[in-house]
Amino acid sequence: MTEIKKLLVTAGVAALVALPAASLADGAAIAKEKCAACHGDDGNSSDPKVPNIAGFSAVTIVDMLEEYRSGDRKGDKYKPKNGDETDMNAVAKDLNEADSEAVAAYYAGKAFKKAPNKFDAKLAKKGAKIHDKRCEKCHSEGGSLADDDAAILAGQWKEYLQHQFAKLSADERPMPKKMKKKFKKLNDDQKAALIEFYASGGGK
Ligand code: HEC
Ligand code: HEC
Repeated sequence: MTEIKKLLVTAGVAALVALPAASLADGAAIAKEKCAACHGDDGNSSDPKVPNIAGFSAVTIVDMLEEYRSGDRKGDKYKPKNGDETDMNAVAKDLNEADSEAVAAYYAGKAFKKAPNKFDAKLAKKGAKIHDKRCEKCHSEGGSLADDDAAILAGQWKEYLQHQFAKLSADERPMPKKMKKKFKKLNDDQKAALIEFYASGGGK
């Protein structure tokens, strides 16, 4: 290898290593200051009303923050035990683009922990079949694959899921057109079964 090539290779590696490290450092500080009281230090919340966001893809988190910032998605007011009441719309408005990307990268790098939900195993089995037919295309591996950029459903807090299913059903939260087509065809029993399936951990 020529000297100049060696130099380029070394510089390239250094740049690759340095970039995410810099955003991770910022992201951790932002998370601690602005998110952790509700979502937990590692993005796994201890309150069933607050979703786990650890391990979501960074793209998903950035997109979701944008939906809150624009007001397309309305967040509920929430008061953590050790903090002030606010909602995700106000939280997102307080972040610029670089902050959003840094904090998203931080939580994307944490491991999603399945919530300790109670569930009905029989209904969950029924839900698995409905999921495979209608939802697996975008929420693959039973709703557990972050790379789909469609959140993680498998092992999410059940109470949060129930609330979001209700909001999606009442058109109080936007969703992708192709998801809407499938979601609108579900009846209440099918939705209940799907929630049990995701609450069970997704089965995969
Ligand atoms: C005061 C509590 C609170 C704080 C602080 C907070 N969140 Fe949230 N977050 C929530 C609640 C509650 C929801 C549930 C959904 C809703 O109301 O739309 C949520 C939802 C989300 C979602 C959507 C998750 C999903 O599965 O759809 C993302 C992403 C998110 N928060 C990221 C963040 C980030 C990043 C921060 C810090 C910059 C933050 N939140 C700060 C309470 C909070
Ligand atoms: C065309 C792809 C697609 C299909 C099909 C689809 N989804 Fe989704 N789903 C998404 C995307 C993308 C998101 C993230 C949306 C956002 O940013 O809020 C999402 C979000 C969700 C959420 C909210 C998760 C959270 O963390 O708040 C639920 C619940 C959900 N989908 C359930 C379903 C169910 C049930 C089906 C099958 C009936 C389904 N989806 C089919 C793409 C899809």
